Amino acid sequence: MDTIALKMEGICKHFPGVKALDRVDIEVRKGEILALLGENGAGKSTLMKVLAGVHQPDAGSIYINGSKAVIQGPRSSQALGISIIYQEFNLVPNLSVAENIFLGREPRRVRGVIDWKRLHQQAQAVMERVGLKHVSPKTLVSELGIAEQQLVEIAKAISYASEIIIMDEPTAVLNGEDAKQLLRIMLELKKQGMAIIFITHRLEEVEQIADRISVLRDGKYIGSANAGEVTRDDIVKMMVGRDITDLYPERNEKLGQPVLTVEHLTVKGELHDINLTVREGEILGIGGLMGSGSTQLSKALFGLYPNMQGTITVNGQTRIRSPREAIDAGIALVSDDRKGEGLVLIMSVFENLLLPSYRRISAGGTLMQRAKQTSIVEKWVDLLKIKVHDPAVEAGTLSGGNQQKVVLGKWLQMNPKVLILNEPTRGIDVGAKAEIYQLMKTLTEQGLAIVMISSEMPELLGMSHRIAVMHEGRITGEMPIQEATQEKIFLYATGGK
Ligand SMILES: Nc1ncnc2c1ncn2[C@@H]1O[C@H](COP(=O)(O)OP(=O)(O)OP(=O)(O)O)[C@@H](O)[C@H]1O
Ligand SMILES: [Mg+2]
Repeated sequence: MDTIALKMEGICKHFPGVKALDRVDIEVRKGEILALLGENGAGKSTLMKVLAGVHQPDAGSIYINGSKAVIQGPRSSQALGISIIYQEFNLVPNLSVAENIFLGREPRRVRGVIDWKRLHQQAQAVMERVGLKHVSPKTLVSELGIAEQQLVEIAKAISYASEIIIMDEPTAVLNGEDAKQLLRIMLELKKQGMAIIFITHRLEEVEQIADRISVLRDGKYIGSANAGEVTRDDIVKMMVGRDITDLYPERNEKLGQPVLTVEHLTVKGELHDINLTVREGEILGIGGLMGSGSTQLSKALFGLYPNMQGTITVNGQTRIRSPREAIDAGIALVSDDRKGEGLVLIMSVFENLLLPSYRRISAGGTLMQRAKQTSIVEKWVDLLKIKVHDPAVEAGTLSGGNQQKVVLGKWLQMNPKVLILNEPTRGIDVGAKAEIYQLMKTLTEQGLAIVMISSEMPELLGMSHRIAVMHEGRITGEMPIQEATQEKIFLYATGGK
């Protein structure tokens, strides 16, 4: 049985009010990719944090290479050959890539001074293994995009020469090519004999690279299977406990007047002459590859570029020059960077949900106002099925997908006229995805106009009424959904005509 790299048995972990793990068993072999699957809040990250030494389990045993291991903390986890790439990044923005990778382990000269030359050479070597060839090891992490930061995390993990690598939704922040590149790297690591635990909500990735799957639901171990022997529907059923037949609802058919009109929108160096309109009840999908400018467009629409040229109007009147003006005009932005822009992690779920609408509800403390706030919060927790046992807890303690739902709820609470969604279902499990899509449909029926930026082709094609595709800060093509195909979108996204 020496091929089993890791075995966890009967692991239990509770937090105040939550049984996050309830007698969970998993095992991973050497040279195997195990996909750890489950709904948002199922306990995946918690289980991995037990392995990483971040949480102490209440009960259960861990065996590494057949011997019982006690993981006292992160250092002891590392010493046992375990590396983890967290769902939320852990890099130091003001240090260089090389410094981040070798933090606390920098090569030194005799007198103890850092040997910069060697540091940079060693960093370069691991960076090449993860495809970070175009970045200098001296670059500050704060200057990197989100995909590059992810690759730095992975470079750091493999630099520890670990035998067990845990990747908690590593592809969630990556688009098409970058995600594929990462899957290739994982296959490479597997070939080298590493045991990999891979958490993802993208089931096509599971089909592509996983050898086996293990599923958790509500903190409980549901089962395992060889990846080749189960269909996607089987997996979904194990995860959510029911079949999901229609992921994408029928589109809203009653489109009204144009609500959002954008004319000649230009932001120097970022966006060039963007023109678009979105009507009441319509979903305009925006496609494009990484760096296409779609995120910049979402920011510009929310008034985040004071130096922008051109006009943004809502219902024919308002000009948007700042986020305040955007909010007042009824524009809401669900950003793709929930940690940076969407959520205040140390504030409660309650406060986060009420944040942008505080002015309207008036932040006072009378009992009646408090009761109103509570009912609003309960409404969103209910509607979005946010898994939280008490909204007074810090938003940072929620599972990743549930944090995303809080961001969505907070902006919907504003009752916007135009909702800009940047990667709305990133990190959201399939069951919750279906619910969010249904909610989007209901909102469009009530007249909401939605701009949805998405790197997921099925989502773009499944939800939009029209699709505009961006490349290098321009809109290179636009089409009604009846004419949209994956090939066409790809062609425009790469700048072709
Ligand atoms: N530090 C903490 N304090 C309190 N509760 C926590 C803490 N960490 C996790 N939880 C709770 O434990 C449960 C499991 O969360 P976990 O993050 O493991 O879910 P997950 O399966 O990784 O979900 P996702 O797919 O959304 O990332 C959730 O109910 C979560 O709110
Ligand atoms: Mg998680």
